[in-house]
Amino acid sequence: MTLKFAVIGAGRIGKVHAENLVTRIPGAEVIGIADVVATAAQDVAAKLHIPKVSADYRELLADPAVQAVAICSATNTHSQIIREAAAAGKHIFCEKPIDFDLNRIDEALESVRKAGVKLQIGFNRRFDPNYARVRQAIVSQEIGELHMLHIISRDPGPPPVSYIKVSGGIFLDMTIHDFDMARFLTGSDAVEVYTVAGVKVDPAIGEAGDVDTAFIVMKFANGVTVSIDNSRKAVYGYDQRVEAFGSGGAIMTDNLYPNAATISTAQNVRRDLPLNFFMERYTYSYESELRDFVESVVNDKPLTVTGADGRAPVVMGLAAKKSYLEGRPVKLSEIG
Ligand SMILES: NC(=O)c1ccc[n+]([C@@H]2O[C@H](COP(=O)([O-])OP(=O)(O)OC[C@H]3O[C@@H](n4cnc5c(N)ncnc54)[C@H](O)[C@@H]3O)[C@@H](O)[C@H]2O)c1
Repeated sequence: MTLKFAVIGAGRIGKVHAENLVTRIPGAEVIGIADVVATAAQDVAAKLHIPKVSADYRELLADPAVQAVAICSATNTHSQIIREAAAAGKHIFCEKPIDFDLNRIDEALESVRKAGVKLQIGFNRRFDPNYARVRQAIVSQEIGELHMLHIISRDPGPPPVSYIKVSGGIFLDMTIHDFDMARFLTGSDAVEVYTVAGVKVDPAIGEAGDVDTAFIVMKFANGVTVSIDNSRKAVYGYDQRVEAFGSGGAIMTDNLYPNAATISTAQNVRRDLPLNFFMERYTYSYESELRDFVESVVNDKPLTVTGADGRAPVVMGLAAKKSYLEGRPVKLSEIG
């Protein structure tokens, strides 16, 4: 069986998902694409031969031939589109985060439950082979009992301020991936969060009410201590590393590079910069997460990243923000 998709949102990530669904996932077909900016949808449709194009996603939800949607629009539209897609009986792959507001997330999850459709959230990094190897080392106790986890996650440059304004802020937009990684690797949930953060990269980000540099320390229910180090700008490119430390050893992952060459001269030994951003660094995981979603729907298998997995990092993000604003450790139970 081929699962027929509509892609909603034809921006940065919408293009990646549309292309993967059309060209790399045999069990999927894209029969429609929508974007409020009609030309954005038209351009992707023309390139990928997608037959139906609309400026209104509701037109695609009303099409009985559409069986699943990939929600790739701006974050502030996700929970509403989830509710409408569920009511229309479509299976849903939705980009992170579900929403900034827990009540709206709960309404969206309830509509999914009622409709009996599947919902997977786009925490693609779980599908990256490096992190999967770290998880395997933790689960198999290859490094003994896990004590500490360090996550370094720095972007090569900040997104436009117009994006930052609708993104929910760094904790819900960027750190959210690291919160999910912390849950995935520890196999546990955070109980307390303490954030120290500021504006070091661009004052315009501060004027938009956000921060661009953050350090977050967390206690997890299983006793593991986790740190997350975020910056919106690493001049040498996308910096994505983790180290897990346990009673029997440690495991760490490095960045990925476009090549393995080293250049040795009389002055120094050097190499080229790491892969620059998420589209190059996480290429495999974007394909793999959608393949997993399609298999879950077609074979009615449990999902790898559920709606509950989409909610938990939002609670962590809200706690991290509260901690920053109030200058104190915040218990997750204070958020809900
Ligand atoms: N998982 C990841 O690695 C990853 C990477 C990038 C973005 N994202 C997430 O994907 C979402 C989109 O991010 P982006 O970087 O592609 O942003 P973007 O601004 O490049 O694209 C968003 C697109 O959605 C369209 N849009 C907005 N409202 C719409 C609506 N009501 N109906 C249809 N289209 C609408 C916009 O016109 C735009 O073309 C965000 O929620 C972001 O958090 C996830």
